[in-house]
Amino acid sequence: MENKNIILTGDRPTGRLHLGHYVGSLKRRVELQNSGNYDEINILIADDQALTDNADNPGKIRENIINVVLDYLSVGIDPTKSTICVQSALPALHALTFYYMNLVTTARLSRNPTVKAEIQLRGFADEGLPAGFFAYPVSQAADITAFDANVVPVGEDQLPMLEQAREIVEKFNRVYGETLVMPKAMIPENETQRRLPGVDGKAKMSKSLGNCIYLSDTASVIKKQVNGKMYTDPLHLQITDPGHTEGNVVFTYLDALCTDEHFAEYLPDYANLEEMKEHYRRGGLGDGTCKKFLLNVLEETLSPIRAERAKWEKDIDAVYDIITEGTARAVEKTNATLARVRKAMRIDYFNDRSIVKEWEELLKKAKQ
Ligand code: TRP
Repeated sequence: MENKNIILTGDRPTGRLHLGHYVGSLKRRVELQNSGNYDEINILIADDQALTDNADNPGKIRENIINVVLDYLSVGIDPTKSTICVQSALPALHALTFYYMNLVTTARLSRNPTVKAEIQLRGFADEGLPAGFFAYPVSQAADITAFDANVVPVGEDQLPMLEQAREIVEKFNRVYGETLVMPKAMIPENETQRRLPGVDGKAKMSKSLGNCIYLSDTASVIKKQVNGKMYTDPLHLQITDPGHTEGNVVFTYLDALCTDEHFAEYLPDYANLEEMKEHYRRGGLGDGTCKKFLLNVLEETLSPIRAERAKWEKDIDAVYDIITEGTARAVEKTNATLARVRKAMRIDYFNDRSIVKEWEELLKKAKQ
């Protein structure tokens, strides 16, 4: 095991990525990628994990692999610096999952708070819980360890997965000897990045709630979402009324996205967001002006992403080559880890013929 700085992160390909993904993780991935501080960046399109709660709808996963890759490329994930790979094509992950299952109890899996919440959300509590879904934190531990990742940038909701992965690593190394790299979660620094609410103020952007701004949305769709659905301050009826900026989605989004340069360019009445907020709280600043400014900020953030996506959309062959090459690299890497794991577990029977001798001696001894 070398001492390298290796990142692994990933997404379930169940839909297009949205502004919440951008603010909460994609933007930072690009920064980490370009920081020069990491020996490897691996990004896993977790289609197998997505199947654990979409077994009856594999078509949805198949469709969204391309959407997710396009979203990655359009935000600036650079395939010459980051390895983008597809989980189902990495057989080592399946084998590792199977071995790690023996190191986790069902009682421990039942306590994972994220899985618990998801079980309720998906209705599995009534319908019956698929064993694969129940065990997906184990498969996520396989993802992480297969790449020897020491850093795993994820959202807060993934902390329980990291905790379980760390426990599995600890147990594996204790039982079979130092083999696996201990991973650590890296979560977004500030609150607004951690959870950007939906345009309607609901805690999360979700496709079924229709409260998302997708990275691939057109300017007119975004305008509709902001002007039609975005929640402001229900007590701010007249422009002259004092307003609240906390819990006001327009300001939450501005917190996450706007810079002083945006003010210089689009709203020079204020030097920065603090000044704008003060005016809003005092009264005299209308929601229309705030939304118009936010739309400018959103356009400036999203139009280069949209343009980049349009470019890649014209060359799906090239996108296919990118994930083919990334996946091939990942196959090598994860197979090497699996070989190491099998050796540590002493189930590496077919590496060489040395076990023939071992068995012969054993049989000889038994006869003595
Ligand atoms: N569970 C993660 C999510 O839902 C996706 C994921 C799968 C992942 N494997 C991973 C994240 C490995 C980090 C590392 O967002």
